[in-house]
Amino acid sequence: METSVALDFLGELRRTHMCGDLRAADEGKTVLLMGWVHRRRDLGGVIFLHLRDRDGVTQLVFREDAEASIHDRAALVRGEYVIAVEGVVAKRTPETINPNLATGEVEVVVSKLWILNESRTPPFPMEEEVDVSEDVRLKYRYVDLRRPHMQRNVILRSKISFAVREFLYSQGFLEIETPFMTSSTPEGARDYLVPSRVQPGTFYALPQSPQVFKQLLMVSGFEKYFQIVRCFRDEDLRADRQPEFTQIDLEMSFPQQERIFEVIEPLVQRVCAVAGYQVPQRFPRLTYAQAMQRYGIDKPDCRIPPMHQVSDLIPELANNNLPLMAIHIPGTGAPSRKERDELKAFGQERGLRVYDDPKRLERDFPEKMAQVRERCGAAENDLLVLATWGGEPKGHLPDVTTYQACGQLRLYCAQKFNDRHKLLDPKNFQFLWVVDFPMFEWDEEEQRWNAAHHPFTSVHDEDLDKLTADPARCRAKSYDLVLNGVELGSGSIRIHRRDVQAKVFAALGMADDEARRRFGHLLDALEFGAPPHGGIALGLDRLVMILAGETSIRDVIPFPKTARGTDLMCNAPSAVSEKQLRELGIAVRGQGK
Ligand code: AMO
Repeated sequence: METSVALDFLGELRRTHMCGDLRAADEGKTVLLMGWVHRRRDLGGVIFLHLRDRDGVTQLVFREDAEASIHDRAALVRGEYVIAVEGVVAKRTPETINPNLATGEVEVVVSKLWILNESRTPPFPMEEEVDVSEDVRLKYRYVDLRRPHMQRNVILRSKISFAVREFLYSQGFLEIETPFMTSSTPEGARDYLVPSRVQPGTFYALPQSPQVFKQLLMVSGFEKYFQIVRCFRDEDLRADRQPEFTQIDLEMSFPQQERIFEVIEPLVQRVCAVAGYQVPQRFPRLTYAQAMQRYGIDKPDCRIPPMHQVSDLIPELANNNLPLMAIHIPGTGAPSRKERDELKAFGQERGLRVYDDPKRLERDFPEKMAQVRERCGAAENDLLVLATWGGEPKGHLPDVTTYQACGQLRLYCAQKFNDRHKLLDPKNFQFLWVVDFPMFEWDEEEQRWNAAHHPFTSVHDEDLDKLTADPARCRAKSYDLVLNGVELGSGSIRIHRRDVQAKVFAALGMADDEARRRFGHLLDALEFGAPPHGGIALGLDRLVMILAGETSIRDVIPFPKTARGTDLMCNAPSAVSEKQLRELGIAVRGQGK
């Protein structure tokens, strides 16, 4: 393609400053800047360009009375052209100072201009917010990433990764790499497979996490491992899920759960400080059972008050022995009839019987409602909704089913009235440890127990004998780090004994030969002096998303996939040539569903 202007070479040109550097104190200096043309104003006799690089924006001035050829060449420059300029820093007159720019007190009066490259008109402007579909942004991601907003996110991510490394190195952790081409890992999603050409018909799996390898590194005696590592999971995508994502993954030998927390709490504080936020020294701990009772979910959003069980206060409203819950959202004012109907419908759709009419409740149970208010700490004008299960008890644990449905109603109410109470402030960071998860989850469809975390998680010492006798009551030594309703990280103390691992596989209904086939290497390793060990993995993308004030992890991943797992820029996934398939010994059977 022919260029529309004659281009200059970079040659030996060297920048003296970045575009965010210059201040009034630099007046009179001759400087050389390079970057992209952010904005352009041509007033005839004088042309103003805003020059942008990663660090900021500087105003350039091209005057007609300077060397005419420069002014004429500046007239050819368009948005996003790449240029280099030499000139002298001048103070702006008071009325032309731009308070929105760090360099707003000065401008550079240009004496030399080099046009290094031109640019097509970009598909959208380089502004903070653009009114364009995400698909267009993703197709031209390299342009999208130039926007200040996206630059900030990617830079924050880099700073956070650096802080994580710095902190973990300072605590004696070693950064050790683990393979990407491996065998299946047990994190519950489908694997991405990589066919082997040399051994046709066989496949590597991309790791869903480095779980087994990090355990093996403890068996090898490295004591403290970490990695900022890519993981691959073929699962349904959402705003906080990508098929490839990054974990801050770590493992320690000889830890109790609290030792892991002692590493993660200051690590998270350090990371928050990088983003400009202070968070408390110690995060509250809640057992899984408490989280379910109070919030109806294992990743509570603690910006909203908990629910309270009030069956003892108004037993007449409870359904048999199922709990009657009070949902309390402060600062809503009285909801309208329509709003009440909507929240009632939401609860009913989830199987609840909802008592949404405060006047009626106050009339029918004046004293008891005063006690309910007191228990919840609810003021006169707060929203108070009572709810219990609506029909026959449901599920393996009907109480829990009720808590869960009430928990959904609680979140619905909080979101619905957020513009009034503003509780869901994204800058209010409420961290929380949820501990003592159940060891197993009942799979209704398959009629069997699944590992609630993963099958290498230790059972509580005192629940060891319940492994086969009473799996429902086994508590795991596993824990989640939760932030504002998002699961930020998850980990556990692992099984380090071969006999216990065999029992857990048996409780999961995994036959010996299957356990050997899938995890033989780990089982063997446990026979060679495996130390007690445990660890955790934090989702880096989710952490950066929240600290950057975003609601989708796509906005903090430079090159993410769409909800359908497509890379719109590279056009992946895509068909491959017959030749490649033949080499791999693969025949495509048609479009699988
Ligand atoms: P888990 O599967 O809970 O645990 O993952 C740990 C954390 O990784 C993040 N995460 C994701 N982020 C974006 N997209 C995804 N698809 C995705 N899946 C998970 C979450 C989650 O909390 N091996 C264990 C950890 C351990 O036991 O040490 C593991 O991977 O923030």
